[in-house]
Amino acid sequence: MALKALSLLLLEAILIQAGPQSYQNLFLQRINPQYDNTVYGGNLIEDHVYSRAPGKLAPQAPILQSNYHSAPQVAPAIQFNGVAAANGGPLGTLSPNPYGQGFPQLPIPQPTQDPASLGCGQAPGFCPKSRYRSYDGSCNNLNNPGLGIPQTRYNRLLPAKYGDGISTPTMALSGNPLPSARAVSFSMYPDIPIEDPIWTLNAMQYGQIITHDMSMIVGSTQTQPHATRCCSPDGQLLDLANSPEHCFPIVVPQNDPAYSQQNIRCMNFVRTITDKDRRCIGDHQPAEQLTAVNSYLDLSIVYGNNDQVNQQVRLFQGGRLISEQRNSQEWLPRNPNATGACTLLDINEPCYLAGDTRVNQNPQLTVLQTLLLREHNRIASVLASINPHWDDETIFQEARKINIGQHQQISYYEWLPIFIGLDNSLKNKILWRTQGYVDDYDPTVNPSVLNEHANAAFRFFHTLIAGQLDLVSERRNSYGNIRISDWFNRPAILEQGNSFDELTRGLGTQPELAADAYHDREITLNWLRQPGQPLGQDLKAICIQRNRDHGLASYNDYRSFCGLPKASSFQDFLDVISRDNVERLATLYEHPDDVDLTVGGSLETIIPGTLAGPTFLCILTEQFYRTRVGDRFWFENSGETGFTQQQLAEIRKSSIARIMCDNGRGVRAMQPRAFERISQSNAVVPCEALPVVDLSLWKDLKGGSSHIPSAGFGTSDYYFKK
Ligand code: HEM
Repeated sequence: MALKALSLLLLEAILIQAGPQSYQNLFLQRINPQYDNTVYGGNLIEDHVYSRAPGKLAPQAPILQSNYHSAPQVAPAIQFNGVAAANGGPLGTLSPNPYGQGFPQLPIPQPTQDPASLGCGQAPGFCPKSRYRSYDGSCNNLNNPGLGIPQTRYNRLLPAKYGDGISTPTMALSGNPLPSARAVSFSMYPDIPIEDPIWTLNAMQYGQIITHDMSMIVGSTQTQPHATRCCSPDGQLLDLANSPEHCFPIVVPQNDPAYSQQNIRCMNFVRTITDKDRRCIGDHQPAEQLTAVNSYLDLSIVYGNNDQVNQQVRLFQGGRLISEQRNSQEWLPRNPNATGACTLLDINEPCYLAGDTRVNQNPQLTVLQTLLLREHNRIASVLASINPHWDDETIFQEARKINIGQHQQISYYEWLPIFIGLDNSLKNKILWRTQGYVDDYDPTVNPSVLNEHANAAFRFFHTLIAGQLDLVSERRNSYGNIRISDWFNRPAILEQGNSFDELTRGLGTQPELAADAYHDREITLNWLRQPGQPLGQDLKAICIQRNRDHGLASYNDYRSFCGLPKASSFQDFLDVISRDNVERLATLYEHPDDVDLTVGGSLETIIPGTLAGPTFLCILTEQFYRTRVGDRFWFENSGETGFTQQQLAEIRKSSIARIMCDNGRGVRAMQPRAFERISQSNAVVPCEALPVVDLSLWKDLKGGSSHIPSAGFGTSDYYFKK
C-alpha cells in the first residue's frame, strides 16, 4: 500500500513537472483515489462493470429522416438480445418535408404559443452549413436533423410496461396497485446523514447542471408546485370524477411518520406529457414521454434551447450575454416574470432569467449558472480584445464554443470518472488518454436521453444532496449555513452580503452526502416547502411515482438487461442488495418483478471507484457513451466544427476550480480538483497557480493556423436533407 501511495505521488510529481499539457492526465490518474485494486480485491470493477461489447450493445438509433409531429406511423421495433426495443418506434418514420426546399422557414414557436401545438418536435426541412451548433440541437445529426431536439421522445433501452400496455401507470404483476410511493420512500430512504469521504457538494451540484443540460420532462416546471391540483387544498384525495386530467396523486398512508401528523393523505403529482397526449401516435401504440430541452451536452442551460430564448439572453454587443451589475458583481438578468417564475417574499428580490427555466430552483444551482454566464462574458471580452475586427456574432459563437468545450472537458474528464469510474469510462471508450483528437462521432448513435437514465438512474444522485449549505470564508472557515428549503426557487440569498462567494467556496469545501439509500429530509419532507409551512413534498416519492408514470420496466428486467441474473425470488436480490433492504422490499412489494427500477437500482451496493451500483452504472454508462459519440460537435472532434490541435490542448487544461476562481469576485484560491475535498494532496492554492486556458490561441491571424472563418455562410452552403 505504502509503495502504491508513493508511486501515485511520484506520478503526480511527474505530471506536474510535465507542465499544464498533462493536466488532463492528472485528473485521469488521481480522480478516484478511493479506487484501489488491492483494497477492493482486484477486479471488482472488471467483474461488475457493464461492457458495451457488440452482442450486449443497447439498441442504436435507427437514423430516420424525420420527427414531425404529424408522423403517425411507428417504425417496427428493433430486435436485440431477443427483446423488442421500444426505441425503434418513437422516432417515427419519414414524413414529407412540409417546408419545401428553399430557405428554411421554420415555424418558430412564439413564447406565448401553446406548447401542445409543438407536437413531438419539429425538425427543420434542411440544415444550414454552420461551424456552430444550433440552439435546439437540430442539424447536429445531418441524416436526421430532428434527433435530440426539444419536445421529442425520451429513448428507451427496454419497452415500457404500462398497466394497460398503452399508457396507464405500471401495476403489480397481480394487477393490484404498487405500494404507495410515499410508503416506499419513508420505509427505504431514512435521513441518516453520512458524508462522502472524498467528494464535495460541487460534484453533486455540477451533476444537476449536467442533467439540466440534457433533459427535462414536459409538463412540470421542476421548481414550483404544479398548477394542476390533484389533491384538495387540505391534502385529501379527490374522487376520480373531480380529478383533473393527467392526475396521478401519491397516496399518503395513514401510518406516515410525518404527513399523518398534519392529516395529509394526498401528495400532488401530475403525469408527464407524452406523444399520445400530443396525438403524435396512433391509439394503440404505447405512449412515450417528451423532453422539453435538447439532449446534447451543449450548455443550453446558458444559451437556451431555441432561438427565442437565445435572443432573450443575448446582449448582441461584443458577443456577450445580458448581465446586470450590482455591488460590483455581474448577475444573471432579471426574469421579466419574476412573480410567476420565483417564490418571492419581497417584490424587489431577484429572480433570474437564463437558458433554462430551472435556474432559480436552488441556491447552489444558481451559483453555478451564474459562474457559467460570467465565464462566457469573460471569454467574450478576451476574444473581442484580441480580435477587434470580429463582429458580435463571431465573438458570441466562438466564446460559446469555448465555453461548451470547457464544459464537456470538465463534465467528462473531471466529473464523470467520479460517478461512473475511471476504468469503466476508459474501457467503454467514454474517456480517452490522449492530447489529440478522438474523432469518434457516429451518426448512427442516437443521442436522445434514455428514459431509464433521466427518470431512474441519474436521479439516484438526489441521495448526494445536503439540506444545509455552508457559507465559507476565504480561509475556509464556515460562517454558518442556510437551510435549503428556505431558498427553493428564491435566489435572493446570492446577493445578500458576500453570500455568492461564500456559497461558491462552500461548494468546493462542504462534502456531499454519500451515495447510499439515505436522503436528507430537506428533500424527502421539505421539497417546495412554502414559507411558514411545517412540511413540503417528498422528492423521493415523486421520483418513484415518475418511474411508474413513465411505465419503466422493472428493476428485475434491467438486472437481466445489464448482465445480472434475473431474480425469481426476493432472496435472489441478495447478490447486490443488503439483507435488511431485501427484507423491506419483500414486505412492500408482492413479487420481485414488481420492484421499481428507481427503487431496486438505488439499493444496490456501490461499485468501488464509482457512485452507483451495477444496474444504474450500466444505464449511466450507456447514456454517457451515446451523449459523446452521438454529438457531431463534440469538443474532441476535428474538422471545421472542431478546435485546432493547439486550441484543444488548451481546452483540456480547463477545470471547475479555475471557473470558480475566475468568476467568483472574492474567490482568490481554490484546490485544483474542486470536486474533491481539500486535503494535503489537494490543497487550496492561489488561483494563479491553477492551469489556465490560453485564449491567445484564438487570435485571428487572417490565414494563419488559427484563422477563424466568419460565422456567416453563403446561400449555397447548405446540407440538404438526403
Ligand atoms: C438540490 C438539488 C436538487 C433538487 C432540488 C432536485 C429536484 C428535482 C426535481 C423537483 C425533479 C423533477 C421531479 C419530477 O417531477 O419528476 C428532478 C428531476 C431530476 N433530477 Fe434532480 N434535483 C436536485 C439535484 C439533482 C442532482 C444532483 C442530480 C444528478 C446528478 C439530479 C438529477 C435529476 C434528473 C436526471 C431528473 C430528471 C430530469 C428530467 O426531467 O429529465 N438532480 N430533480
